[in-house]
Amino acid sequence: MLPGPTNVPNRVMNALLSPVINHRSTDFRELYKTITEKTKRVFQTESEIVLLTTSGTGAVEASVVNLIKKNDKVIIPVNGEFSTRLADLIDSWGGNSIRINAPFGQNPSFDQLEEAFEKNKDTKAVYAVYNETSTGTTIRYMDKIGELCGRYGSFFIADSVSILGGDDLPVDKWNIDICVTASQKALAAPPGVSPISINARTKKYMQNNPPPIMYLNLSRYFKYFDEHYETPFTPALPLFYAFNEALDIILEEGMEKRIKRHKICSDAFYSSLNTMGLTPFAAEDARSDVVIAVNYLKGMDDKQFRDLLANEFKVLVAGGFGNLKGKVFRIGNMGEVNRYHVMRTISSIASAINMCGLTVNPEAMSVALEKLKPL
Ligand SMILES: Cc1ncc(COP(=O)(O)O)c(C=O)c1O
Repeated sequence: MLPGPTNVPNRVMNALLSPVINHRSTDFRELYKTITEKTKRVFQTESEIVLLTTSGTGAVEASVVNLIKKNDKVIIPVNGEFSTRLADLIDSWGGNSIRINAPFGQNPSFDQLEEAFEKNKDTKAVYAVYNETSTGTTIRYMDKIGELCGRYGSFFIADSVSILGGDDLPVDKWNIDICVTASQKALAAPPGVSPISINARTKKYMQNNPPPIMYLNLSRYFKYFDEHYETPFTPALPLFYAFNEALDIILEEGMEKRIKRHKICSDAFYSSLNTMGLTPFAAEDARSDVVIAVNYLKGMDDKQFRDLLANEFKVLVAGGFGNLKGKVFRIGNMGEVNRYHVMRTISSIASAINMCGLTVNPEAMSVALEKLKPL
């Protein structure tokens, strides 16, 4: 139950055993073409898809180094570890980040972003971490940012590493120019493949202004794809087969049904944890449905609690980042999550709390069961 990597279905693991083929062959071209077509459906986009053989950070970095030039102004909401990292990356690449800070667990208001635009009409891009994994916080006005960027002609980039496949993300409808994700979270595939969508105007900009780098230079990927349906460098072939299978599982379920399942599971988590007396870290209007960050009760020790969960019940949850270490634990409500995972996690948490010498309201189980009824 980690916020990534998540459980990988056997069907996907078995696909890793496919033969390692020639990446300059018809077989590979067909594989790559089919993966990009399926990925477009999951991203709800007509944009071009590039699959990088990297973890999520590689794809996030590609979105910066192919777009941002020296002194470009970039507006970015900052409210946790991943948004801070992204703002630092933009600055270290020579950009000029305009950080709209909010306390961890909250989002800056949309009005704050709009105000920053008013003061900086020459803003090149807005980068937003749609789901801030370190705090369990989701930006619920991505559509409005897209509309704002459209109004000012700026680029809109979404770091959707920990959310795509687990919550709604209609890339084209929300006017997102570049959307970045990774295989190992809500898409329930092994780590190592990171897809990016890039729309036509952004592709054109990148092709006309390529960065002086090799591996993450997206213009090279466009060229190879347009000419041969290939990647410029050797792709992680077994991971591509696995990712292809994970996409099939997603599309067999259907995006709408999948997102609803995540929502039902997150409602069950929040309601039953609340019944136990545990409070979410994130403010209500910013609360994530894919990463449930929970404040520890007084008397609960992070190491003791998570060791009990892991060793006694074989349930893995994550701890907090930075100064949230020891103060919160985080449950990944992603990918394969279903009734079984929620009930097993909730009952294990209740038992572990009991073993720490505290009591919880046993009604928490029936509250979760009730919420899970639609599944
Ligand atoms: C929002 C967000 N961005 C970027 C990353 C970095 O991804 P990776 O660890 O796959 O490089 C993560 C990882 O958890 C994330 O949650």
